[in-house]
This record gives sequence, structure tokens and C-alpha cells, in this order.
Amino acid sequence: MNKIIIEHLNLQYADGTESLRNISLSIQANAITVLFGPAGGGKSSLLRCLNRLNDLTEVKVVSGRILLDGENILDPKTDVIALRRRVGMVFARAVVLPMSIRQNLTYGLELAGEKHKSRLEEAVERGLKLAALWDEVKDRLDDPAISLSGGQQQRLCLARVLANQPEVILLDEPTSGLDPISTGKVETALQELKKNYTIILVPHSVQQAARTADFAAFFLQGELVEAAEGKELFTHPKQKRTEDYVEGRFG
Ligand SMILES: Nc1ncnc2c1ncn2[C@@H]1O[C@H](COP(=O)(O)OP(=O)(O)O)[C@@H](O)[C@H]1O
Ligand SMILES: [Mg+2]
Repeated sequence: MNKIIIEHLNLQYADGTESLRNISLSIQANAITVLFGPAGGGKSSLLRCLNRLNDLTEVKVVSGRILLDGENILDPKTDVIALRRRVGMVFARAVVLPMSIRQNLTYGLELAGEKHKSRLEEAVERGLKLAALWDEVKDRLDDPAISLSGGQQQRLCLARVLANQPEVILLDEPTSGLDPISTGKVETALQELKKNYTIILVPHSVQQAARTADFAAFFLQGELVEAAEGKELFTHPKQKRTEDYVEGRFG
């Protein structure tokens, strides 16, 4: 099933930079779609379109459509707060809130009006378990979040997104600062999560792209060069530019 259908998306920033040019791409539910390519390709810009974070930057032109379950989220009538709950984002640098591990998970829900203690506790446990962090922190939920290691903080950010029960999870180079063991834990968590979520990942390397991608899309300077099933794209790329990048000839 296509959870998201992107049609002829163009994005131009206020300074004239055309960061996305005529992008069309379908994103499957219950799978990991990887957006990869060299820096400046437009990957982060595309993620920011998917939960309307670009509303916060100076954008000159956005055109095209992004259908989430058939509804165009670029429509001005979209409830952006509700959208961002459905489409959660994890960034490259874990930004934990300066509060306890537990409060990092309950904060957003309390802001959204959740008062039930038992429901908040459930959300804490659910989020931490889904992010494969529960076993490491269950006995220290009231410790400050900043006392966690970098890898744990990154999974806490993932847990925080998951506590909101999103449908789509966007991850922008979530393991770029992490050691291989923490990276492995995040990747394992994503493999488990994809059973129930739509996951869109910008990986920090071609190797991670090849390891994790059910579907992959190669971006170069604002253009979507090629999209296919992961295995297909990494073993039999159709475009010369994809092949050159996958084989390490540039970037
Ligand atoms: N807020 C912004 N204002 C102007 N240009 C931007 C902004 N954000 C990104 N860009 C430009 O858009 C292009 C795509 O950037 P980005 O989406 O960050 O690519 P990637 O994530 O693939 O590295 C780059 O040329 C970048 O400099
Ligand atoms: Mg980026």
C-alpha cells in the first residue's frame, strides 16, 4: 500500500536555491524507504516537506502535491500540528529535553492534553520498548536524560516520537554521530518498527542505505535520479550516475 504519494514536487528557497525539482515518488507502508545521495541533494528538504517543517524556513515556491493517505498535506487547510503528530521526525543530533528520561516521553503528550497517569506510563514504556531502550533505562526513568550515552539519547529521541503514536517516522541521518554498536541497535529497532510504521530514512552512508533499504531513492542536486527496490537499486542500478555513486566513484 502507498502511504505517501509525492507528485511533481518543486521546492525553491527564498534565495533562489532550487532544492527539489519535479520529484515524484511513492512511499510504501510497512517498509523502510531510504533517500540517499551526496550532500546538497535535497534529502533533508524533502523530509521537511513531509511534515511541513519547511513552513518555518523562508521558501519562495512549493508546488506539486504530497498525498498522505490520499490527502494533500501541502493544502493550506492542513492542520499542521496534527500532521506532525502523524508524521514524526528524528534528527541527526539527538536533542533530548533537559528533564528526566520519563519526562522526555510524557512532555509532548501532556502538552497535547493527556492527564491520565496510567496512559502516560503506558506511553513511556511503549515508546522505550519500541526504540529498543527499555531494558537499559527501566530502572532509572527519573535520571536526567542527558546522563544517557549518545546512542541512548538518539534512541530516546526515537522513543519520544513513537510515544505520540505516529504513522510515519522520518529519520534524518539518525546515526551519523554514533558508534557501530549504537548504530546497529537503531537499525535493528527500525527493522522491527517497519512492521507497523512507514519509515523514511536518510542514511549516513551508502553502506547503511544498502543494509536497511526495502526501497531506495537516489537524489542528486535536487533531482530524483532513480528509485527502486533496495536490492535492485544497489545491485543493478539503471542510471550511470547511481552506479557511480553506489560504487564510490564520487560523493
Ligand atoms: N533554509 C535554506 N535556505 C536556502 N537554501 C537551503 C536551505 N536549506 C537547504 N538549502 C539548500 O538546498 C539544497 C538541498 O539541501 P538539503 O535538503 O539540506 O540536502 P541534503 O539533505 O541532501 O544534503 C542545498 O543546495 C542547500 O544548500
Ligand atoms: Mg541533509
